[in-house]
Amino acid sequence: MRNVIVLGSQWGDEGKGKMVDLFSERFDLVVRYQGGHNAGHTVFIGERKFILKLIPGGILRPDKQVVIGNGLVIDPAALLAEIDALEAAGVQVSKSLFISNRAHVLLPAHRMMEKMSEGRAGRVSIGTTSRGIGPCYEDKTARRGIRIADLLDRESFRAQYALLMEEKVTVAKALGIYEELELDRTREEYERFAERIRPMVRDTALLLNQAIAEGKTMLFEGAQGTMLDIDHGTYPFVTSSNASAGGACTGTGVPPTRITGVIGVSKAYTTRVGAGPFPTESLDGAGDQIRKRGNEFGAVTGRPRRCGWFDVPLLRYSAAINGLDSLVITKLDVLDEFDNIPVCVGYRIGKQEVAEMPPTVKEIARVEPVYECLPGWKQSTFGMTTYDQLPLKAKEYLAFVEYRTGVEIGCVSTGPERNQTIVKPGSRFQALIL
Ligand code: GDP
Ligand code: IMO
Ligand code: MG
Repeated sequence: MRNVIVLGSQWGDEGKGKMVDLFSERFDLVVRYQGGHNAGHTVFIGERKFILKLIPGGILRPDKQVVIGNGLVIDPAALLAEIDALEAAGVQVSKSLFISNRAHVLLPAHRMMEKMSEGRAGRVSIGTTSRGIGPCYEDKTARRGIRIADLLDRESFRAQYALLMEEKVTVAKALGIYEELELDRTREEYERFAERIRPMVRDTALLLNQAIAEGKTMLFEGAQGTMLDIDHGTYPFVTSSNASAGGACTGTGVPPTRITGVIGVSKAYTTRVGAGPFPTESLDGAGDQIRKRGNEFGAVTGRPRRCGWFDVPLLRYSAAINGLDSLVITKLDVLDEFDNIPVCVGYRIGKQEVAEMPPTVKEIARVEPVYECLPGWKQSTFGMTTYDQLPLKAKEYLAFVEYRTGVEIGCVSTGPERNQTIVKPGSRFQALIL
């Protein structure tokens, strides 16, 4: 049995897309468990660039099956556009992709409702991706959501849609955020979408458990990151799903007893898109330099990502929440030119040292990072493929991070392409993935 979760251990965009695409070679299936088209997972194959949003990594390998689990919210228009774009690029999707009948359907009205949280005076703006993700999960939790199985049953869909839209229009008008929705046109459009996705819809929990019984192996692909998790992240500056390891079970129907390992993906530094506390954010020239060298702009929205230094307390928290077996450190090459590289090794609030991640954004915002400064290696690591090739100071940087976080670094990424990757021989990582 080999069923491994690969997830973001910071605030998203850690390079999960590259890693999942790479690791998928060794697994039979790749399964997404939460989120929606707020995700943007970049994969480079030579000169060709793919940005996967709803479709799991692994799709770029012809012999893999990929699954969209019940934990996702699916905008069928976004999904079909993604399928069409991939197929136009020569990627076979429709025969390899399975969609959960229990996933939730995202509607244009959800995007309208997002204006309530993002635009209204007095509300805290989260800086969301404006995809309607939060409001769709709201409907799921409030038990009025429409699921894929409902979408495929025209009679149920029409009844549920009419009721839900009546509620949305009433609330939106009362709040002054109503915009013309063309309700009938949308309903007809969704009925057409239903027919296109019908052949791919399955009871994916059954499918996955059956696959495990047959000895097949699977990767669970996280979207977003642990600090954006609705329960464990920097609430309310989070997304609306469980991006951390627990989400892989609730979001797929694969039980915890079938999970054999958890791998965290982390940058060699830290970034965040959108609002919310970020203790190690660098607002001086260093942050700009990281953004420039790392090309830190959102894959979905194009927004500049906030940049800063590696945060050990955050990683330790993330390791605990997820039970990380091993870490993948990505974008090491981005730090190649720095003379000195600060690493946050602790937090302080006033004169007091804080060992744990504080629960409120008010407290996290007051956190002062305590830095240790490591010497930079000042030479290119770009594209390196073995540990031995790395400059001594880069090895020392990684050893420092490993020691301080208490988590093995089993893999290091030195560039966006598949082969620009180092696997540490004899690591726990190697045993889990290879
Ligand atoms: P994801 O959402 O976690 O899949 O990450 P994104 O795709 O949003 O952002 C990661 C970005 O970093 C993408 O543009 C990747 O191509 C790029 N990337 C991944 N690993 C490396 C690396 O080791 N070095 C460099 N320079 N770029 C990388
Ligand atoms: P991947 O999978 C980085 C952020 C948004 C915002 C917050 C809530 O590519 O790592 P939402 O639209 O989800 O309600 O926005 O979460 N966010 C991400 N940040 N990477 C992502 O995905 C993200 N998905 C959402 O910027 O701060
Ligand atoms: Mg991304």
